[in-house]
Amino acid sequence: MSTQATAYESAVRDMTQAAAEAELTHAPVRLAYWRIAAMDTLLESLGPRAPRIKVLDWHAEATSEKVAMGWHLDGRFSAVVGSHTHVPTADARVFPQGTAHVTDTGMVGPRDSVLGVDKDIIVARFKDGVPRRFEVAGGPVQFNSVIIDVDESSGRARSIERLDTLFEVE
Ligand SMILES: [Fe+2]
Repeated sequence: MSTQATAYESAVRDMTQAAAEAELTHAPVRLAYWRIAAMDTLLESLGPRAPRIKVLDWHAEATSEKVAMGWHLDGRFSAVVGSHTHVPTADARVFPQGTAHVTDTGMVGPRDSVLGVDKDIIVARFKDGVPRRFEVAGGPVQFNSVIIDVDESSGRARSIERLDTLFEVE
């Protein structure tokens, strides 16, 4: 990471003060930079000790960052799958160098909710801005997942498929 960190930091130093302040306060981009650089550092430090099959299941808000991470690690991880938004994405595919990718796997949680929380609580909060205690919603449970097939000898993914289903609970 040190080489990239130096390049990034010197690029920021070369900006005007206003541009540098804007860059350094644009937290999502800065955090994305550090996370992607951290993966390079991890892979470098593992070196030949790295297992052949590697799966990155990671938490991030921005879909752009999650897709970028998938491309960045294409051919170096068997799979890169995102989480956190609770909303499954329809873009599961195997990238050209053999990394299975989905931007967000989704969630296992109550369907008739806002990201798992009682929908009436969240709607009321958005209407009047007053914070309320979160409570998990009831009703049917959605189960979002992906099934990934990996070639054990190469570590490359053969396929990735969504498996999304619904359970009725008592
Ligand atoms: Fe989260």
